[in-house]
Amino acid sequence: MKLSVAAALVLAPYGVLSHYAFWRMVVNGTTTGEWEYLRRTAGEPGSKPLENPSAPGIRCYEDGSHKIVKTATVAAGSKIGFKASNTMGHPGPFTFYMAKAPTSVERWDGSGNVWFKIDEIGATADNAGLHFKMGLSQVDTVIPRSVPAGEYLIRVEHIALHKAGQPQFYISCGQIRVTGGGSGNPSPKVSFPGAYKMSDPGFSGNIYKGTPTSYPMPGPPVWKG
Ligand SMILES: *[C@@H]1O[C@H](CO)[C@@H](O)[C@H](O)[C@H]1NC(C)=O
Repeated sequence: MKLSVAAALVLAPYGVLSHYAFWRMVVNGTTTGEWEYLRRTAGEPGSKPLENPSAPGIRCYEDGSHKIVKTATVAAGSKIGFKASNTMGHPGPFTFYMAKAPTSVERWDGSGNVWFKIDEIGATADNAGLHFKMGLSQVDTVIPRSVPAGEYLIRVEHIALHKAGQPQFYISCGQIRVTGGGSGNPSPKVSFPGAYKMSDPGFSGNIYKGTPTSYPMPGPPVWKG
């Protein structure tokens, strides 16, 4: 029996445990509860990823219950983090988007041409090919200082590219109330679904083939607030 326990431990990282979900927000340096400010994803339980970039789930990957979560107050210009339920062991980029709710974000579905990218983490390249940030269990970004005050959905995403031609999307949306802020006019704005398609070079390529010298980030350029 000892042997099978050891074998399970060795194999586990490549099986069930390799999935993850962004489930805790880190606000003002404090890690908040599971699904307290982030909408529970349809991948639960088991944190299964979405595999179709044109599916409705590409927006927030929300589960069908649409359980109401809390809205976190965050100051424009402050750091916000997203903790994953497991170490993120797959290679691929991270992106961060926001969308301003017409009024309250609580029941807003984020539809329309409303999403702008605030940040992204791509790959570096050298003679050995592409290098993505791997092994993280949390990613952080900063709420742009000039974003107008108000309630927003904030969308965090990790796109796993270990299977050529079959990206896996790990997505969560959180609810935030931005205070302070400015009179910036975020652009360009895109919709989800709409912003991505399977034939985008960032999804359709094979990151292990040859020696790529750059990785083409999916979606719109980052808004330089
Ligand atoms: C974070 O700090 C701000 C003050 O800068 C405060 O208004 C807000 O309630 C705090 N948010 C959370 C979720 O603790």
